[in-house]
Amino acid sequence: MTTPLIAPSILSADFAKLGEEVRAIDTAGADWVHVDVMDGHFVPNLTIGPAVVKALRPHSDKPFDVHLMVSPVDLWLEAFAEAGADHITIHPEAGPHTHRTLQTIRSLGKKAGVVINPGTPENVLEYLIDMVDLVLVMSVNPGFGGQSFIDSQLRKIEAIRTMIDATGRDIFLEVDGGVDVNTAPRCIAAGADVLVAGSATFKGGPDRYAANIAALKGKT
Ligand code: DX5
Ligand code: ZN
Repeated sequence: MTTPLIAPSILSADFAKLGEEVRAIDTAGADWVHVDVMDGHFVPNLTIGPAVVKALRPHSDKPFDVHLMVSPVDLWLEAFAEAGADHITIHPEAGPHTHRTLQTIRSLGKKAGVVINPGTPENVLEYLIDMVDLVLVMSVNPGFGGQSFIDSQLRKIEAIRTMIDATGRDIFLEVDGGVDVNTAPRCIAAGADVLVAGSATFKGGPDRYAANIAALKGKT
């Protein structure tokens, strides 16, 4: 089985010491740092803005994978790009012109991604896939960490893997929500190559981060 990249979601970190937490997951073997940005409008939770991303940027050289759950999303692209995002992923439901939003992200020099909610079919990608560097499949409804994996999304991951392979391009296929040691191998078998993990990374505190990440990679 291929070894996935692990992108810990800092939503499950200790917010009182976020810089330390980002350094800890970096040292523990995280491949990317997943940042969940929520506006209390597109999703029923409120998290962090570009100022926090900027403050965290010096704490790791790993790619910052910024998942925008804000609407309208276009207003925020430049601010997150300037704050230090490497990847910016957006939901098609978060603005009227998804194709243009992806163009803007790329014009800012960042990798662009589309996020597919559990209730959104994969065919939303049909006319967007040429514009994306990554596809993020939500395996929970966005808004909160610690939710249960929705099994029906495995079929969607398989379908998107087929679509990506047909392009002949390197496009990351990332899964977000309820990923743990039980669901991770199923995501990988379905064709995912990047796993977001909040609770499964941060459980047990800093002494456990390396072991938790290794377990998600199937290395224990
Ligand atoms: C949910 C977020 C996820 C979440 C994952 O809206 O996009 O990134 O933090 O948390 P776990 O891994 O705990 O399901
Ligand atoms: Zn996320």
